[in-house]
Amino acid sequence: MQINQTLEETLALRDYDLRMHNVRIHLDLAENFPVTSADPHQLQQVFLNIMNNAVDAILEHSTEGDIWVRTALNRDRLCIEITDSGPGVKDASRVFDPFYTTKPVGKGTGLGLSICYGIITEHGGTIRVRNIPSRGASFTVELPLQPAAPLVFSTPGQRAVSGRDGRILLVDHDDSVLEAVGAILRGRDHRVQTAKRHS
Ligand SMILES: Nc1ncnc2c1ncn2[C@@H]1O[C@H](COP(=O)(O)OP(=O)(O)OP(=O)(O)O)[C@@H](O)[C@H]1O
Ligand SMILES: [Mg+2]
Repeated sequence: MQINQTLEETLALRDYDLRMHNVRIHLDLAENFPVTSADPHQLQQVFLNIMNNAVDAILEHSTEGDIWVRTALNRDRLCIEITDSGPGVKDASRVFDPFYTTKPVGKGTGLGLSICYGIITEHGGTIRVRNIPSRGASFTVELPLQPAAPLVFSTPGQRAVSGRDGRILLVDHDDSVLEAVGAILRGRDHRVQTAKRHS
């Protein structure tokens, strides 16, 4: 996945609503930010949770504000920083705890950041918060750069074997695998010979 793209998509989800509330977004996305192996839906959930919190924090005390979104590559770590112009977090040591919330009953469950913490930890990364005096809360997500695995299979419609001159020898110890894979390959006009492996 391309994290910059996921961030932009996440912001697009709240674009209208951000403009309605006079919240300006300042993007500082690293050029040539590398593609990495990660779950885009889970990361989108993380970015959306952080963004929603930032908007809530800004609008708690003001009728307008700013959010700064920055990405950078630090050696083999992908860094994503989301900073807001709100009042900052009240207790940095508790914000990632499940059910910790300072929002009124019915507004927050206190689960948003603990879910983010779980997702980022499962990705082998870290998530931290600090308050920046001239701004507000600043969340930093760091993920290990995981270069995308090479594609082993051809995509549908693309032929793995272009010519029809050769034959495929399909070897497996399971009859049902030989039958099923053989049928798929024959269905694509390949000449297939199967052999059962006994081991
Ligand atoms: N950007 C921020 N500025 C100030 N405080 C924040 C910010 N983000 C989180 N917090 C604090 O951390 C608490 C926990 O955040 P979390 O996202 O886990 O829960 P929530 O937003 O209260 O509820 P939920 O996300 O479940 O709707 C918040 O209630 C708030 O006190
Ligand atoms: Mg939240």
